[in-house]
Amino acid sequence: MAESVEIFEMAPRDGLQNEKRQIALSDKIALVDCLSRAGFRRIEVGSFVSPKWVPQMADSAEVFAGITRRPGISYAALTPNMKGYEAAKAAKVDEVSIFASASEGFSRANLNCSVSESLERFAPIMEAAKVDNMKVRGYISVVTDCPFDGKTPPENVARVAAQLRDMGCYEISLGDTIGQGTPESVTAMLRAVLGEVPAEKLAGHFHDTSGRALENIEASMAMGLRVFDACVGGLGGCPYAPGAAGNVATEAVQARLDALGYETGLDTAVLAEAAAMAKKMKGQGDV
Ligand code: HMG
Ligand code: MG
Repeated sequence: MAESVEIFEMAPRDGLQNEKRQIALSDKIALVDCLSRAGFRRIEVGSFVSPKWVPQMADSAEVFAGITRRPGISYAALTPNMKGYEAAKAAKVDEVSIFASASEGFSRANLNCSVSESLERFAPIMEAAKVDNMKVRGYISVVTDCPFDGKTPPENVARVAAQLRDMGCYEISLGDTIGQGTPESVTAMLRAVLGEVPAEKLAGHFHDTSGRALENIEASMAMGLRVFDACVGGLGGCPYAPGAAGNVATEAVQARLDALGYETGLDTAVLAEAAAMAKKMKGQGDV
């Protein structure tokens, strides 16, 4: 049997969060429902962040209320603080994510606080999640390059990864937020992080600004990683990371993994349908 690799789908969140035009609630719900038919085990549906910071995600509770949940799929959301955690819990999310940065510059831009202050804000989320039996995933942004601070030293990523591990995150997703990573810089970063966290607890999250995301995924696989975040249609970008273009496209990752002989469990016809839907929502469709 072919070895399997999991793709964590995030178009409804990372794909749409940067879109200036308000996308209809019904379109967001339809996208998640379509993705639920594709075979994903995890889908990031939205985020419970300040609506002043990311207006597009302000209706995440309504999206969660409107989707048809399929058994066996974990519907996830980002939570930057306790206010977000409480809202996510009320919306009956299956898991939450906390998101930190490997650089001070990006932490300030994205969370309006230092890296250590952000971790302090996450601590009560971790405590509440333990009581609630809620799984928490951790993100680290700008793992190779930061739009504000330049090259990110691998040891900074390893340090934050160790902190998220100690706090109890079940998996840590390593984000090349602005898509400037190369197989060399990704490998150097992973070498440092793997000294703290085993590959089974890591995921790769590559934006494709420089068109090297698939190579970076292969470099990560050579280091043992088997979970990758992606967005159908290659949508995405972070509003607080200038130059952060789309996430690597799910359908491109699926095709590459298939060519390499790995199993993703995804239905390519449904993926194509979801990609067309997502592109249309971003105004990039044919119609
Ligand atoms: P702040 O302005 O310092 O916080 O923002 P505040 O506590 O002063 O709150 C400001 C206002 O927001 C207040 O409202 C709060 O109540 C409200 P007001 O009193 O002025 O009316 N507020 C909230 N409302 C709803 N839900 C909440 C919430 N929290 C506060 N949870 C804060 C600090 C962290 C809130 C803000 O910086 C924020 O929301 N940041 C999130 C930014 C974001 O979502 N970025 C994109 C996701 S990360 C990403 O894309 C990277 C990733 O994909 C990986 C990668 O690619 O690297 C994951
Ligand atoms: Mg991202």
